[in-house]
Amino acid sequence: MSSDKRYFVCEPYLNGNETKYVMDAVSTGWISSSGSYVNKFEDAFAKYCDVKHGIAVCNGTVAIHLALAALGIGQGDEVIIPSFTMIATAFAVCYTGAMPVFVDADKDTWNIDVTKIEDKITPKTKAIIPVHVFGNPCDMDAICDIAKRHNLFVVEDAAEAHGATYKGRKVGSFSDIAAFSFFANKNVTTGEGGMCITNDDNYDMLCRYYKNVCFNPNGPRDYLHNDIGFNYRMSNIHAAIGLAQTEKADEYKKMRMTNHSLYKKYLGDVEGILFQKDEADSENVGWMNTIVLEPEKYGRTRDELVAYLKDNGIDTRLLFKSMSIQPALQKYGCDCSGKYPVTDYLSDNGFYLPSASNLQEEDIKYICDVVKGFAK
Ligand SMILES: Cc1ncc(COP(=O)(O)O)c(C=O)c1O
Repeated sequence: MSSDKRYFVCEPYLNGNETKYVMDAVSTGWISSSGSYVNKFEDAFAKYCDVKHGIAVCNGTVAIHLALAALGIGQGDEVIIPSFTMIATAFAVCYTGAMPVFVDADKDTWNIDVTKIEDKITPKTKAIIPVHVFGNPCDMDAICDIAKRHNLFVVEDAAEAHGATYKGRKVGSFSDIAAFSFFANKNVTTGEGGMCITNDDNYDMLCRYYKNVCFNPNGPRDYLHNDIGFNYRMSNIHAAIGLAQTEKADEYKKMRMTNHSLYKKYLGDVEGILFQKDEADSENVGWMNTIVLEPEKYGRTRDELVAYLKDNGIDTRLLFKSMSIQPALQKYGCDCSGKYPVTDYLSDNGFYLPSASNLQEEDIKYICDVVKGFAK
């Protein structure tokens, strides 16, 4: 089996008004965050998520930090996060001075194991950050119920799950403030970018205040700052791309979901290949097509398969490593003493397959044939 084509893990797909809007921003000189595309993008994306407010920022990591800062989380507080997530979730907590506390993943959905959250709640716990891993919505009923009973904030890390739904509601609409990333591999992208979304007018005001170095929001621009803020603003050029992408968000969602089901169709019955199980009553938007290998059944190790795919022009990426083994978090003082066996299993045996929105069925079939052909 061979193909001259190189399959990247995930290229952006920009097939709408991106060039037109960017040219407009550039040709009119509105390239900073003051241009009108920022508000248009915020409104369009908030509407897409069925929430009241969107606050555009320069990446998804700072979107999580901004959300936590607006909720008043800081030193002395604890924030529960999954051990199986991208490091940004943990770092954003550290930026506030609070302590990230880890909960292992569920073995089927790969999202935070909701049955283990309450074991980690202490009097210092202030918030839970559920992450909709690879586009698969978390069990938000269970998480919101725990948060309500323990009086905790919920900040969804929806960086990977644009447009995903849980019980018919869009992710991002369940929490006090939710955070999205628009990095180039995301279902909706601005190259680099992020957004906080919220239904709460006060949190909206606070996010805008902190993201803009705490300029006085109501009074004159007198260069007196009452609080320490951040410059997390998004440029009009990025927002121009974001608006064009949001106009097509449903199209991209459909493409990713179709690709996800094609991977399941062609690899679903291969012995030793496991897919993430969707949360009940939810729509997994298939951000990344991830598989976990059971080497004893497939007959090869994950690393052997990844190397073989590379030889056949197919790029892959390994999965996150547990937060509990991150030297940076150990140095920061996190309690890394617990065991996170599901996270370890996923990171030792899983990887992403190519997942760009515009992959064609024949591409996916070729990739799956290579995977199948290597099984022993
Ligand atoms: C779960 C999760 N959270 C946060 C982020 C951070 O987003 P960004 O790269 O835009 O800072 C990412 C990025 O991929 C992510 O996957």
